[in-house]
Amino acid sequence: MTSYKELGLVNTKDLFKKAVSGGYALPAYNFNNMEQMQAIIMACVETKSPVILQVSAGARKYANQTILRNMAKGAVEYAHELGYDIPVVLHLDHGDSFEICKDCIETGFSSVMIDGSHFSYEENVALTKKVCEFAHSQKDYVTVEGELGVLAGVEDDVSSEHSHYTQPEEVIDFVTKTKVDSLAISIGTSHGRAKFKPEQCTRDANGILIPPPLRFDILEEIEKQIPGFPIVLHGSSSVPIEYVHMIEKYGGKLTDSVGIPEEQLRKAAKSAVCKINIDSDGRLAMTALIRKVFFEHPDEFDPRKYIGPARDELKKLYAHKNQNVLGSAGQA
Ligand code: G3H
Ligand code: 13P
Ligand code: ZN
Repeated sequence: MTSYKELGLVNTKDLFKKAVSGGYALPAYNFNNMEQMQAIIMACVETKSPVILQVSAGARKYANQTILRNMAKGAVEYAHELGYDIPVVLHLDHGDSFEICKDCIETGFSSVMIDGSHFSYEENVALTKKVCEFAHSQKDYVTVEGELGVLAGVEDDVSSEHSHYTQPEEVIDFVTKTKVDSLAISIGTSHGRAKFKPEQCTRDANGILIPPPLRFDILEEIEKQIPGFPIVLHGSSSVPIEYVHMIEKYGGKLTDSVGIPEEQLRKAAKSAVCKINIDSDGRLAMTALIRKVFFEHPDEFDPRKYIGPARDELKKLYAHKNQNVLGSAGQA
């Protein structure tokens, strides 16, 4: 049994309270390897931003949970070494069972998500409540994120490619019954780099896809139901067209890529949305830079020479998000 406090980590409780009242959102960046972690910490130290390091089931499989947990501990020490202590949360992304959440809680995660959004409403309530009871009764309180509504993309079941928006009338009941600390909602975002079908979009003069706007009306209705309650947005990569073009210029093919425009995320961050999840943009930045190095230097075979530039670009991307999109810069 390891408590997150032993690793120098914090839960999301106070961070979310400050973010909601301060009109900004915390970055929740997924990480799977050392370079992503380094880039996140360098960017968050430079911009003085608190940060949520998040670990998916895929990351646990790829990198091993023990290694990731020790990397989070290293991240706290690394920030200190860089000269500025920032609050670091280690969060389980899309936990799909009580057992996974329990395992993470007992091994040093300070926050977990239990994603019961694919179950019936009653099953989602029961599962989320069970995780909250366990997480909240630890010696060091672990915070829990629940989800209501379904996002399209990796979360969806195979037969449906459409999102199911969160129903505002369910949120008070869900939050009261489960005692969840924050709630992920569905207002039109989705996972991955192709968030909308071309037929859902318009095109600008250059043929670039313009997505339909997020459903801010649903967000406003939810805020009326549970004023000041911490809201989370998943699937919030912007899919920068520069990276898509760069990847395609250097041999890749990413047809119909489209993300969530930065202005809309900025608007959301000023509301009760206090955590914004970003993974795909980091994948695009790394891939773009690695492809560029391979294309320009076909003889290169030292991984540091292509992962290094990818890490530099990642750091730039995260610093930009903190400063210009989430508003978390200067809040640590
Ligand atoms: O929510 C999805 C995240 O982007 C994590 O993706 O399961 O491929 O690690 P992953
Ligand atoms: P993106 O695929 O938009 O980066 O979303 C990541 C996410 O929601 C992780 O939980
Ligand atoms: Zn997600």
